[in-house]
Formats: sequence, structure tokens, C-alpha cells
Amino acid sequence: MDRQEYIEHLLDHYQNPRNKGRMADADLQLGGGNPGCGDLITMYLKIGDDDRVERVSFEGEGCTISQAGGSIVTELVAGKTLDEVTALGTAEMVEEMGDDVVKSRVRCATLALGTVQAAIHQYEQGRERERVGARMTAQDAVPFEN
Ligand code: FES
Repeated sequence: MDRQEYIEHLLDHYQNPRNKGRMADADLQLGGGNPGCGDLITMYLKIGDDDRVERVSFEGEGCTISQAGGSIVTELVAGKTLDEVTALGTAEMVEEMGDDVVKSRVRCATLALGTVQAAIHQYEQGRERERVGARMTAQDAVPFEN
């Protein structure tokens, strides 16, 4: 895409956002914000059995780039495993938005991706705590033999 096509792509996502709306039965949701401007985004994910993103949506208010980013990120992460989503970075956002936009507005461009990755991080920490809790419970249940 050339510069003009990237701009049109962004405007299309801003004006016709994909997967926008609250997800009542989300497995994880997290709000993120850009402290510099107060713009907000909330990402919702439904996780399938194989740790893939089964459904994804977003809500938010803010600049064109951050909100177009929400829409773009929903398309980018749909069907990916949590590990694959975690591995996404600026390079993928450059592919979607163009070098100029990401370089000049990096906080706007990465708000949605950063939020979805933070949500996954929290989710995985929660699962790890559950695993440790379950292990401790299982150990507690083993009677000591003297
Ligand atoms: Fe606030 Fe873009 S100006 S996220």
C-alpha cells in the first residue's frame, strides 16, 4: 500500500469499524488508555479450547488512529493463539498502518495491540495462579505417611 492507500485503509476502519461493541460473555476484557490525551479503548476476547481467539471485539473513544487500530487489531488477532498475539509487534502495525503513521503516532497506533496483549498477560497470570493453587490443594490432599 502507498501512503494514500494506508490513509484510506485507516479511515475505512475508523468510519466502518469491524467487531465494535461490548462482549457480554468475554473471557477477558481490559481497558487501556493513552495518558497523554485521555483516549480510551477496551478490548474483549473469547478464548477457545485450543487457546485461540474465538471472538474479539472492542469499544472506545479517541483519535482516528487509535480507534481504527482497535478495528484493525480485532481482525489481526482473530483466530490466532494467545502466543501468536503476544508475539505481534510494531512491525505488524506498520504493515497495517504504514511506516509514517506508526512512527509519528506510535502511542495511538499501538494502543489497541498493547491493551490486548496486557489483557492476555493478566489472563495468563490468573491461570498460572489457578494452577499453583490447584497444585497446592492437590498436595494438601495427599496424606502423610510416617
Ligand atoms: Fe490519543 Fe491518539 S491522540 S490515542
